[in-house]
Amino acid sequence: MSVTVRVPAKVNVQLAVGAARPDGFHDLANVFLAVGLYDEVTATPADALTVTCAGPDADQVPLDRTNLAARAAITLAERYGRSPDVHLHIAKDIPVAGGMAGGSADGAGALLACDALWGTGASREELLDICAELGSDVPFSLVGGAALGTGRGEKLTALEVGGTFHWVFAMAVRGLSTPAVFREFDRLGEGLDIPEPVASPELLDALAKGDPDALAAHLSNDLQPAALSLFPDLAATLAAGRAAGALATLVSGSGPTTAYLARDAASAEKIADALRTSATCRTVRLAPAPAPGATIIT
Ligand code: C5P
Repeated sequence: MSVTVRVPAKVNVQLAVGAARPDGFHDLANVFLAVGLYDEVTATPADALTVTCAGPDADQVPLDRTNLAARAAITLAERYGRSPDVHLHIAKDIPVAGGMAGGSADGAGALLACDALWGTGASREELLDICAELGSDVPFSLVGGAALGTGRGEKLTALEVGGTFHWVFAMAVRGLSTPAVFREFDRLGEGLDIPEPVASPELLDALAKGDPDALAAHLSNDLQPAALSLFPDLAATLAAGRAAGALATLVSGSGPTTAYLARDAASAEKIADALRTSATCRTVRLAPAPAPGATIIT
């Protein structure tokens, strides 16, 4: 018997970042939106913990115990006094080190798959608790939809979304390390007064109404200057998407994936074509939002 879980990627429609805390993390007002690009994690009983991965970026995925999927299995097994004897296979479609929570998706997917395989009876709260231990974005990968994340992003409040938003994503030729982007944010902000991060009421209203023009007017990402500073070529990709009619453009999370909000599905196709011919990125994908959270599919 095996269990397969499908888990979405995310884009941050607002990422407000506060000053570095004593523990090195940053307080956030992080408005997550799950998008229809998915990884699938399959858990199968095995003699020992093993991880395999397939997909376009598979060679960049660590297969040892640093993989969040492996860590999820180990953490759940420890809590329930059993050994993590499971084979985890990741069918990877979310870009690696792309700012779309691909690693977090695999952590949440493995957790849900192992939980179902082992019949632990863990409550939703316990699963969310383990997710928060695994990483700041992992709880959101479990719940999906749209949510405001506070603290380091792990404390979630579900948000209403009143319609479908059409997104285009341009994957870059290389990844960016999330800690490095936060370090660059700190460096760029040295000596400046960094305000407390607060969610934008106009942005939350735009999400609730499903209004792409209003959402476009209020998208923001405080990590964008840091990502562009480490990866200046992203500016050309953003410009190509803007010229092709995107309502707004932004770096997804810590990047380097860039995100383009389209008015409708036809406009998204046009933006995607223009990005493909711009030769400023590696691949281009279309994805509607919101998408459901981690879901058992077999
Ligand atoms: O929580 P996670 O392991 O995904 O975080 C990866 C890194 O991103 C952290 O080690 C930290 O450098 C940075 N980070 C941060 N503040 C947050 C979330 C992440 O500084 N709220």
